[in-house]
Amino acid sequence: MSLLAFIARAEPVTVASVASPGNVLTVSLQLDGGTPSYRVERLGDTVVADSRLGFQLRDGRLDRDLTVLGQATRSFDETWEQPWGERRRVRNHYNEVAVQLGERGGAKRRFEVVFRVYDDGLGFRYRFPEQAGMREAIIDDELTEFAIAPDATAWWIPAGEPIHYEYLYQRTPLDQVPLVHTPITLRSRDGLHVAIHEAALVDYAGMWLRRIDGQRLRAQLSPSAEGWKVRRTLPFATPWRTLQISDRAGGLVESDLILNLNEPNALGDVSWVKPSKYLGVWWSMHLDQESWATGPKHAATTAKTKKVIDFAAAHGFRGVLVEGWNPGWDGNWVGNGDAFDFTRPTADFDIEALSAYGAKKGVRLIGHHETGCAVEHYEDQLGAALDLYARLGVDSFKSGYVCDDGQVDRRNPAGGPLWREWHDGQFMARHHLKVVQEAARRHIAVNPHEPIKDTGLRRTYPNWISREGARGMEYNAWGQPPNPPDHEVNLVFTRLLAGPMDYTPGILSLKGRGGQAIPSTLARQLALYVAIYSPIQMAADLPEHYLQHREAFRFIEDVAVDWDDSRVLNGEVGDYVTIVRKDRHSRDWFLGSITDEHGRVLPVSLGFLEPGVRYRAEIYRDGDGADFRRNPFAFVRDTREVTSADALTLVLAPGGGQAIRFTPL
Ligand code: NOJ
Repeated sequence: MSLLAFIARAEPVTVASVASPGNVLTVSLQLDGGTPSYRVERLGDTVVADSRLGFQLRDGRLDRDLTVLGQATRSFDETWEQPWGERRRVRNHYNEVAVQLGERGGAKRRFEVVFRVYDDGLGFRYRFPEQAGMREAIIDDELTEFAIAPDATAWWIPAGEPIHYEYLYQRTPLDQVPLVHTPITLRSRDGLHVAIHEAALVDYAGMWLRRIDGQRLRAQLSPSAEGWKVRRTLPFATPWRTLQISDRAGGLVESDLILNLNEPNALGDVSWVKPSKYLGVWWSMHLDQESWATGPKHAATTAKTKKVIDFAAAHGFRGVLVEGWNPGWDGNWVGNGDAFDFTRPTADFDIEALSAYGAKKGVRLIGHHETGCAVEHYEDQLGAALDLYARLGVDSFKSGYVCDDGQVDRRNPAGGPLWREWHDGQFMARHHLKVVQEAARRHIAVNPHEPIKDTGLRRTYPNWISREGARGMEYNAWGQPPNPPDHEVNLVFTRLLAGPMDYTPGILSLKGRGGQAIPSTLARQLALYVAIYSPIQMAADLPEHYLQHREAFRFIEDVAVDWDDSRVLNGEVGDYVTIVRKDRHSRDWFLGSITDEHGRVLPVSLGFLEPGVRYRAEIYRDGDGADFRRNPFAFVRDTREVTSADALTLVLAPGGGQAIRFTPL
């Protein structure tokens, strides 16, 4: 073998490495003849085998002939407070290495790879510093790879398909996944759980993952109408590419990695962001009993909304969402949003009088901006639309981006046919942040549906209070099929790892459009308020249905939405999960447990309760013989006294659940 061939075949050289604070994870960076890769080990076992790093730039690949120009390590340990969230105090404890890489020849472009390594996962990002030979980066794609070492099962939804993130999760061997969204959740044969996602998606394209071969995934950035994926002026940093790693499924849910990798609160005092529960002028339209459009079926009338405000006031809800309040819904609004006017109501909706009526009763209107994907048409009105809300005391709103993915309108600067964008491309990443920042200026919170995926930006912008971004309850009104019981369990271990979801639970009638059965027991609808985290929770059903299920409705009235602490007591991806959360504003704890289509008997220790305190446990459970298919309404509410020394046995029906409130006596 010639010397040259020998050098070319030489083993990769480790040029940097860093271990997590408790020595659980170790990450190392290699150069193989000038091409960078990283690997991850957990307690000595390889989790991520050598995986390439780099970029396909418009002016050539940036992953070759690189050399280390310098490196710096640091350790960090702080505990910060969330203004609202799953837990009040969050520990951010990591070791970091930042390695500067530069091309030996050619344009001598430079960039940095930064690894932040925690005991429960890691994040890495690329930084492009200011430099003489490179003013901007036109990124055609990233070459970042994730070569998962142990044989794994994967839970995923497809990317690049029409209905954005609104698919049922599929479970396959990892070596059979197609092009997928993140978070993707993996489990190895010996029970190691890994979730791949990203943090701090700012002015960049969302990362999809494409399988290259075996268990090797490669980043594929969401497209842009302009051909490249991302265009940025230097200096800038990419989002963090994240791996949450735990030997328990629940460990993924308890991990704060995504939040920790985001920048701290940029808004200062956000006491105006109010976690709360709300009702809506909403479900009746999904049932097709009423309409968004004006006319005889119009739901958003002054008289009908007053009734919902009255019901909200009587039962302690802070907000009433009203959809269809503004002009633009008549005709085919889907993907056709140019008709929407966000600055005035329809003639039969007296928004001034209703907000004053609500204010007298302690109830706020919640705004709604359905854009139908005419995003710039919406941006043109954004300031005036938000001013209207601010003047009326509407301090939160839901938005919507209903159109097929890849069909978001963008004006063609040359004046030709509209450009088309994706829901998670750079264009929409910019749009969402613009809305959030404009809303923050007016102390308004934002809850987008058909959103860009969550990457933890609520830490930086705590008015980004929730979002949809998965198949929600609406699919139980009209979806074919409706959400099967394992869907909500899957959400907890996949979509919810990214952040809160406005799932809109609480359909106690268990009926969708035309009487379609919802695959759930009654008790399960209550358990969703604890299992699926969101600081705003809708009681999505019609008021009259709540009056028909008064006993069960009591849990929805009582359940908290803002938490001091959250813990996963048990769970397996797609099978079942039990979560307990401690209310921020009282000494109460709440428990929510849900299962897939199989019944379960789950022993749980109450060791999370304050020792030495007696609690009243109000238990909302599946009754004898309950089954989501045959007997969904079999339901029991009973109470008993418990202490932290006790254990309970949760008996969940097929498609069932259990909800418990623990109140100190
Ligand atoms: C889809 C949203 O998810 C749903 O909640 C809303 O009612 C419709 N779009 C109309 O905006």
